[in-house]
Amino acid sequence: MAQLWGGRFTKETDQLVYNFNASISFDKKFYQQDIRGSIAHVTMLAKQGILTEEEMTQIIDGLNGILKDVEEGRLEISDNYEDIHSFVEANLIDRIGEPGKKLHTGRSRNDQVALDMKLYTRDEVLETDALLKSLLEELLKIMEENLDTFMPGFTHLQKAQPITLAHHMGAYFEMFKRDRSRMADIYKRMNTCPLGSGALAGTTYPLDREYTAQLLDFDSATLNSMDSVSDRDYLIEYLSALSTIMMHLSRFSEEVIIWNTNEYQFVEIDDSYSTGSSIMPQKKNPDIAELVRGKTGRVYGALMSLLTTMKGIPLAYNKDMQEDKELTFDAIDTVKGCLALFTGMISTMTFNKDRMESSAKNGFTNATDAADYLVNHGVAFRDAHGIVGRLVLYCIDKGISLDEMTLEEYQKISPAFQEDIYDAISMKTCVEKRTTIGAPGQEAMKQVIAANRKYLEEN
Ligand code: ARG
Repeated sequence: MAQLWGGRFTKETDQLVYNFNASISFDKKFYQQDIRGSIAHVTMLAKQGILTEEEMTQIIDGLNGILKDVEEGRLEISDNYEDIHSFVEANLIDRIGEPGKKLHTGRSRNDQVALDMKLYTRDEVLETDALLKSLLEELLKIMEENLDTFMPGFTHLQKAQPITLAHHMGAYFEMFKRDRSRMADIYKRMNTCPLGSGALAGTTYPLDREYTAQLLDFDSATLNSMDSVSDRDYLIEYLSALSTIMMHLSRFSEEVIIWNTNEYQFVEIDDSYSTGSSIMPQKKNPDIAELVRGKTGRVYGALMSLLTTMKGIPLAYNKDMQEDKELTFDAIDTVKGCLALFTGMISTMTFNKDRMESSAKNGFTNATDAADYLVNHGVAFRDAHGIVGRLVLYCIDKGISLDEMTLEEYQKISPAFQEDIYDAISMKTCVEKRTTIGAPGQEAMKQVIAANRKYLEEN
């Protein structure tokens, strides 16, 4: 057990206590960030004359040596250290001796861990954003290719009105676009540097905190040292945004699962993204979509966990905060995995356009348009609604669709119907007449696609 704080103790730490307290098993994940932060710290210390140039160079060389050795497998980050900070410092002292003991001048593990976690999270926010962007690229491609692929739009999972596959995919495009804007917000708000806050009350050394912030690509230094060491808001915001991504992915997954059923057959998930059954030879299961849907709970769990951990913690740092890591790491890795797999799944999925179109035709998705036709022929909407309701009932009874009725049959129910009713309720007309921005009509969709193409080019 290598510890940084033996001085005031007369007894060894109990082994169980040591194990319970240690965080190295999970905080070793940010060894790079820890070293990067230390390099910035000593660079600043030398600039301020707190360390000599020579001491700085020796420390930085030592730190880079540790980094290289860990990276190339020569140095193992073992559980013999309490945390990643102890590991790096102890190894530095082993390597370079006396100057290594000056690394921690003007710093506490409280501001150090606050920095490491921020550096780590900041990179992950960017990676999440890049994965979201790949998904958006894929969605936009599907949209561009399916401007006239008709399908039923649903409410209550009942066929409602005809739309296109482009329009349906466009709904998810907007969701994931908002998710990206949340990443940008989080990045911007979290991008302040806590280093130099010390344990809680700053330090007595003449640190240049703005300089450290600049070295680490932060917009500025944080403005209150107590808040700096105990702020985990950015993690809560990130976990909340990750939860929203999972909520979106779970809705999309659910639709893919439904569309992939024998009953719907709107899509076929590629063999490479499906799994079989050990007993039923005919099965091809949408396990990936189900797992994505299922893992949503785990990400929500991480958010709830951290919110609960942070509740009621007095200022400033308290050890509870060490609990911010494991579930957050798990949530980040889970969401990144889900985004990558989901993008792969939809880019290899086949859309059964004929099935979609015939499903849109059967199910009276054009009933609203039939009513609108009557309104355009002088019938009040409420009366038109009643008339079309009777038409639907008649069709159900005869087992036909609205476009299969003869003109005589139409006119028996309302004389307002003319020959042009067939054109008015054709799938193409139903969709094409919806020309307001945001609607499925081709012209409107083309505008949206162009705007979103531009967005992807610029963001
Ligand atoms: N492992 C600790 C954490 O994750 C590092 C900070 C320790 N600070 C302390 N005063 N014990 O929060």
